[in-house]
Amino acid sequence: MEQLEGRVAFITGGASGIGLGMARAFLAEGMKVSLADWNPDHIAKAREALAGNNAVHFVRANVADRANLKAAVDETLAHFGKIHVLCNNAGVNGGGTAASPDFEDWDKALSVNLGGVVNGTKLVVPIIRAQGEGGHVVNTSSMAGVVPLPGLAAYSTAKYAVRGFSESLRIQLAEKGIGVSCLFPGATRTAMVPIPEDDPENIREEGAPQFLKDLWDAMREAVDPLDTGRAVVAAIKANRFYVFTNREFLDEVIERHREIEAAFPADEPTPGRMKFEQVRRELTRNLMAPGNRPVPVEGAADMALDLGSKSPAGGQ
Ligand SMILES: NC(=O)c1ccc[n+]([C@@H]2O[C@H](COP(=O)([O-])OP(=O)(O)OC[C@H]3O[C@@H](n4cnc5c(N)ncnc54)[C@H](O)[C@@H]3O)[C@@H](O)[C@H]2O)c1
Repeated sequence: MEQLEGRVAFITGGASGIGLGMARAFLAEGMKVSLADWNPDHIAKAREALAGNNAVHFVRANVADRANLKAAVDETLAHFGKIHVLCNNAGVNGGGTAASPDFEDWDKALSVNLGGVVNGTKLVVPIIRAQGEGGHVVNTSSMAGVVPLPGLAAYSTAKYAVRGFSESLRIQLAEKGIGVSCLFPGATRTAMVPIPEDDPENIREEGAPQFLKDLWDAMREAVDPLDTGRAVVAAIKANRFYVFTNREFLDEVIERHREIEAAFPADEPTPGRMKFEQVRRELTRNLMAPGNRPVPVEGAADMALDLGSKSPAGGQ
């Protein structure tokens, strides 16, 4: 989408941090924004910060609750009439480790960080498609969806899944004229990782583990969420899928990709396997070329085959 002026964005987790940064960057482009958030304090603060701007609408919504999120989408449509840009951004920190016996934290982290992205997409993309004016979906993953932090298994699981979901969505929506971007923030100065200065009563530097102190230092020098919002605007305009904001991770990402390449077997694939891969690659190449306007590819509709729905009962 090259022209953003007058378009409507629906941003989950929009009342704080990166969501609010996107909202500000969108408003600067002349867009209208509906900010859906579950935290009433964040909504109150954001409302105050953006007071007097009638291109902003706030709605309380829990992305993990489909009926509740649908009500927020309906309210947005009633207020602005349309939605062109969907930002599935709401997220929560933590959620437990693979080793912990507690399932509740794990389920909650997955239901917000992954479920929220799926729910938002399934509710809003059909609306964008039906309008027929093009659009864009931005899903917030994390550097933890590329190079995981130790101890954040649930968070990383969800963020890797957001990336996989978004890659698939990108192929399916390209021919419909709807772009997809996936955002991978690293340290960004938001409410997600509070530092001692934010809450001196409860967060103390003395006696804290060195790993945490290093994290707080990184947070003191973290990316401004408004800059992240501007990076998202640029990605939407250029129809670019990957949005990275923190260059400090680049060397590790390169190392990881070399490790993946080195893990492939040396034996040549059979002709049948090779042919299928060539067909699959050809169908997706055009659609996934960075910066490309979506180009319909002959036979591309076949790529949308929902193999799961054809499985026998109980099958995967
Ligand atoms: N800040 C970082 O360093 C960082 C790094 C990587 C990824 N991220 C991701 O960025 C996204 C935004 O986080 P942020 O850093 O701006 O944090 P934030 O806490 O400032 O903002 C997140 C917002 O999401 C809202 N939210 C949480 N659960 C919700 C739910 N169930 N329904 C609706 N709203 C809900 C919160 O109320 C909050 O306003 C998250 O997905 C997060 O995982 C952040």
